[in-house]
Amino acid sequence: MPSSSIRPVDAQPQPVLGPPAPVAVFLVVTIEPGGEPAVRDLLSGLTGLVRAVGFPSPDGGLCCVAGVGSEAWDRLFGAPRPRELHPFRELEGARHRAVSTPGDLLFHIRAARTDLCFALVAEIMKRLREAVTVQDEVQAFAYFDSRNLLGFVDGTENPVGQAAAEAAIVGPEDPGFTGGSYAIVQKYVHDVDAWEALAVEAQEKVIGRSKLTNIELDMPGSHKDVNTVLGPDGEELEILRGAMPFGRPGHGEFGTYFIAYARSPETPEAMMRKMFLGGPESEPDPILDYSQAVTGTLFFVPSATFLDALPERSATH
Ligand code: HEM
Repeated sequence: MPSSSIRPVDAQPQPVLGPPAPVAVFLVVTIEPGGEPAVRDLLSGLTGLVRAVGFPSPDGGLCCVAGVGSEAWDRLFGAPRPRELHPFRELEGARHRAVSTPGDLLFHIRAARTDLCFALVAEIMKRLREAVTVQDEVQAFAYFDSRNLLGFVDGTENPVGQAAAEAAIVGPEDPGFTGGSYAIVQKYVHDVDAWEALAVEAQEKVIGRSKLTNIELDMPGSHKDVNTVLGPDGEELEILRGAMPFGRPGHGEFGTYFIAYARSPETPEAMMRKMFLGGPESEPDPILDYSQAVTGTLFFVPSATFLDALPERSATH
């Protein structure tokens, strides 16, 4: 998509383009039958709720992105639907599986402080307690200098500024849903014992960057190489990643909560196909020999403008 076709900003996105934050919570819930009105109320007031919780701590950077799953979209809003919203497509390779797991709503909450994220989740759940079942709640954190629990710097090649908006925000190709985004999430757990048994050089071969200095290496078949996906005109396709570490060392749990925002879900899906299934001339991603995807869900993130207009929409719906 040539950048000249990017729309003028007519719908304000949710804070999808927010910078990496020290703390995040990923909350995924399913909606109980009859819970739709409470969910619509919550979503229509979300901007105000985040403002109320975050305002007293201006340096706290509290923000929240809410996403809606494919079936939930119909239950909550009916037609029209975002053009490319569908359930997460499970992938079954010879060695690796990308599972699809339940999720009607995603709340991706970021802040500089744990207490702000905690307080916002508490307020959201106060309003949704009777309406939803929590499927997953993950507290994630920035680890040393933006490293994941495999010890490598994560996020270096993320697009920034206008390039991030072009990668992540829906434009005129779906006129009813400009300012939206697609969020794809996968919770990964790592086999850190097997990973740490590898020599650093072998780890670098898996990732495709040097561990200490974070320099890109020419490593065919590495995670970096597998995730270099080209579009029809040979251009590199981009997504906006916000993956964060999580874990409970006392329970032997070490993970990466992967989230990607994309203007079209086809881009991260193409990356996942290469990772999990391999390509005609390439093997699956070696990172999967040390990382198992235990969840997988796709959401549409409507614009903030869409959410703020929900009360009027419900009145006419
Ligand atoms: C176990 C989960 C994962 C871990 C630990 C992980 C880690 C990393 C690391 C360390 C890098 C190199 C630095 C950087 O540019 O960020 C990277 C790059 C990247 N990853 Fe992942 N990743 C994971 C899953 C995924 C998935 C599921 C996707 C796609 C849907 C993905 C897409 C990418 C892309 C596009 C890049 C940038 C490639 C480039 O240099 O152009 N990653 N990842």
